[in-house]
Order: sequence, then structure tokens, then C-alpha cells
Amino acid sequence: MRALQYVAYGGPEVLTWAEAPDPHAGAGTVRIVVRAASVNPLDWKVLSGAMSGGQPMVGTGYLGYDAAGVVDEVGEGVTGVSVGDEVFGRGRNTQADYGVLDSWARKPPSIDWVVAAAAGVAGETSERGLRLLGVQAGDTIFVDGGAGGVGAVAVQMALARGARVIASGSGANQDYLREIGAIPVRYGQGVADRVQAAAAGRVDAVFDVAGKTAIEELIRLVSEPSQVLSIANFTAGQAGARVTGGDADSNPTQALAEVASLLAHNKLVIKVQTYPFSRAAEAYRISQSGHVRGKLVLIP
Ligand SMILES: NC(=O)c1ccc[n+]([C@@H]2O[C@H](COP(=O)([O-])OP(=O)(O)OC[C@H]3O[C@@H](n4cnc5c(N)ncnc54)[C@H](OP(=O)(O)O)[C@@H]3O)[C@@H](O)[C@H]2O)c1
Repeated sequence: MRALQYVAYGGPEVLTWAEAPDPHAGAGTVRIVVRAASVNPLDWKVLSGAMSGGQPMVGTGYLGYDAAGVVDEVGEGVTGVSVGDEVFGRGRNTQADYGVLDSWARKPPSIDWVVAAAAGVAGETSERGLRLLGVQAGDTIFVDGGAGGVGAVAVQMALARGARVIASGSGANQDYLREIGAIPVRYGQGVADRVQAAAAGRVDAVFDVAGKTAIEELIRLVSEPSQVLSIANFTAGQAGARVTGGDADSNPTQALAEVASLLAHNKLVIKVQTYPFSRAAEAYRISQSGHVRGKLVLIP
């Protein structure tokens, strides 16, 4: 099979789309024929070596943390899914012809492959964040960075829970934020004042999905620092906010089932830009710019 790969840490220019060993479904996983796989910021962070803990590169690296495709191998102990089923979910090394998923849901028949591929990491992260914040009907929540991959899904999942959502974006994304149901504000200096004005009352929770605003400014919006949760500012805990980094708080199967249902009922719409795998470097460069609207998705 072919897979996106690299043999030295670096930028998108070190990526190649080339032959690689076939992966196989181990216990508790499924292998899919990949129809589409999304790009997440974690991909270029790993590619750069920033996540290696200072260790030198050994062997060949592969990328991709979510995908959609057709199941063609079912690992030991897996029930409820069969060869031929159309699924999407989270996994490892998914930017390839074949990928192994460790959590998945059935792809709703009405949903395109590229949209399903975009929903794995963004959907699981959004469900985790809203659950940890205890967001419920009637709450007012501020999503800082609402137009990006995680942000746009978190906005719509919070709305589906019956919350009122204020979300920040650049000037170029104010209409998009309104389109997905948020009350838009611009990020940058004075953002907390703008959120307070838009809320015209209390803010129950802040979901920081960009990690760019000073955490003290976000904490100012809520009654308890713990009502601010960040997925991207890993020093936020020093000020009393909470940080979530993945598997410890994760309930991926439940999250992906919720995402599938929202997609099927048009309560979650994900805007995607697609690139062929052979042009993955272009998609990585756009992701690195930090101003993606919705998701970038790679297709064979
Ligand atoms: N901890 C976890 O479990 C976890 C899981 C998934 C992702 N993440 C991390 O979360 C971050 C976001 O991921 P993503 O996939 O949503 O990225 P993304 O698709 O690249 O979106 C980034 C968003 O940040 C916004 N932004 C840029 N500058 C900002 C600022 N100064 N203030 C507020 N927002 C700003 C952008 O808005 P404009 O386009 O309007 O400028 C864009 O919508 C990344 O760092 C990623 O690694 C963490």
C-alpha cells in the first residue's frame, strides 16, 4: 500500500506519498480501506519532532489520527462490526491506503466520506470538552477559536445540547460562526469584554480550543477558574483552569456515536477542503498557518 511518510523530522517538504508495509487489525481494532483521512495540527507537530521529547528520529514515521473507510479486517475481540461496513473514527497512521482504527462509529449513509473523515478527532475532542465542562441546556458557553476543526464541531455540539454559544474567530470567520449558530466575536485584545457584552449576563463555561488568549482573561469570564477548559494551552492549569490532553478523559465510542447521530440529523455540518494524498504537503502548510475554517481532508 501507499502511505504518507517521512524519515527525518521537518516541515511539510519532508513528506512523501510512497510504498509502506500493510498494517493489520490487532485486538480491539479494525482495519479499513481508507476513503478519506483528515489533517489535524497534531500531524505537523509530530512531523516537526516537537512531540518526540528530544529523542532522535528512528526509522520511518507515519501520520494521521482519524479516517473514514470500509472495514476489511476485524481484530480479535471486536463485535458489532463486519467486513464491508462503512465506518469513521480515530486511529493511528490513517493517512494511507489502509488504516487501523481503535474507535469508530458507522458512517451515516447520507454523509460524504470526507465529512465523516473530518469528524473523528474533532468530534471526540468536542464531546470530551463539553462533557468535562458539564455543558447543558440553558448554559452560555464561550468557545475561543470557534471556526477551526475542533471549534466548529464544539459550537454545534453545544448548540445541540441546548446551550447558547458565543464563539471567537478572525474577522474573516464572523459570518461562518453565525452560519453554524454561534454569536460571533473577534478574538484578540479585549476579547473578554466583547464576550461579556455578547452574553449580557453570566458565562457558564469557556472551552479554549486555540490556546492563544491569556488564560487569566478567559478565567475572568466565569465564576470558578475550573470552568475554563483548554485543549491547547498546557500551562493553563497553573492559573486554576483545566486542561485535557486525550485518552485519560476520553470516551471515544460514545463520542463518535453522538457525532454520527448529529451528522445524520444535519445538526452537525463540517466544512471541508480536500486535497489528494499526493498533495498532502499543501494541506499541512494550511493547517500550520493556524487559520483553517473547518477541516482539511486528504483523499486517495
Ligand atoms: N488536547 C487535545 O486532546 C486536543 C485534541 C485536538 C486538538 N488539539 C489542539 O487544539 C488546537 C486546535 O485544533 P484544531 O484542529 O481545531 O485546529 P485548527 O483547525 O487549525 O483551528 C485553529 C483555530 O484557531 C483559531 N485562532 C487562531 N488564532 C486565534 C486567536 N488568537 N484566538 C482565538 N482563536 C484563534 C483560528 O481561527 P481563525 O481561522 O478565525 O483565525 C482557527 O479557527 C491545536 O493546537 C491542536 O493541536 C488538542
